[in-house]
Amino acid sequence: MEWESRLTIGVKQFDEHHKELIRIISELKESMHNGENHVYIKNLLFELVSYTKYHFTAEERMMEKHNYQLFKEHKLEHQKLTEQVELFLDKYSAGKSDLDDQIFEFLKKWLFEHILETDKKMGEYLRVRGVI
Ligand SMILES: [Fe+2]
Repeated sequence: MEWESRLTIGVKQFDEHHKELIRIISELKESMHNGENHVYIKNLLFELVSYTKYHFTAEERMMEKHNYQLFKEHKLEHQKLTEQVELFLDKYSAGKSDLDDQIFEFLKKWLFEHILETDKKMGEYLRVRGVI
């Protein structure tokens, strides 16, 4: 899973955040394939949850600041993904599930679709208002 230029939304800080999210997810996948231990992977999942929250909060603050009309819908998508990733972390921590390729496919599909549809719309709105 790698960064692709089509994911650019044109707001520099958020493009950087998205790259970092993709980096963490790729590291998780690689670690799983390399058979890293439970604690190591749990920490990476925790990092993914923390960074996801940090990033979503940053986007939400910016949308609120600029009175973005699709703020509520956008925030709802963020909440759904955050809950999903937290659920993976909880289940994994409790030893109730293993990570598998399906989880990574889910994360990739969700993240890419969110960036390409929802974040791009936000990016256009913000750029018109001078956010770069
Ligand atoms: Fe977003």
